[in-house]
Amino acid sequence: MIGAEIETRMETFMRIALLAATTLVLTMSAAGADIIEERQAIMKERGDIMRVLGPIAQGQQPFDADTVLAALERMNENALGDSIMDYFPEGTETGGDTRATPAVWEDSEAFVEIETTYSANIQAAVDAAPGDLDEFRAAFGPIAAQCGACHERFRTQQ
Ligand code: HEC
Repeated sequence: MIGAEIETRMETFMRIALLAATTLVLTMSAAGADIIEERQAIMKERGDIMRVLGPIAQGQQPFDADTVLAALERMNENALGDSIMDYFPEGTETGGDTRATPAVWEDSEAFVEIETTYSANIQAAVDAAPGDLDEFRAAFGPIAAQCGACHERFRTQQ
């Protein structure tokens, strides 16, 4: 009798433990997928901002100091600096439809360094508040270069 009761209790305990473990795994992968989506949304916004600034830098759209500064400020808010790894935590190397390469984690120092340079260049551009096309181009060139430099090594080719 007592033996059977203990056995039932053990079974119940095991079931609860198993359920808890499964829930934990599910929660973790959901959080991982969320953070992948979040960092991709941050990157998408960079793309949107580039669609404003790129044509101006290329002379396809007229230079307007207010438009440029507003876009640079938006870019500044979007930049992650040395906290970029918060969006690339361990466990999000795969999953979702991430295009991050393993190098993000294998050489996170270099990855963080590019984002830090990128962010500093944007801050400098905001501080400079470009007054004409030449000033804007000088400030914008190094920023745009970091997009490609980072993607080359840290984002998979499609
Ligand atoms: C420090 C590195 C780094 C810098 C700087 C950087 N990116 Fe990215 N970008 C990435 C990585 C890594 C991914 C892939 C993220 C993923 O899929 O998890 C990515 C993805 C993207 C995507 C695809 C987003 C999607 O829809 O999934 C776009 C668009 C993008 N970046 C634009 C830009 C632009 C524009 C700039 C510069 C203004 C920029 N990025 C600067 C690392 C960087």
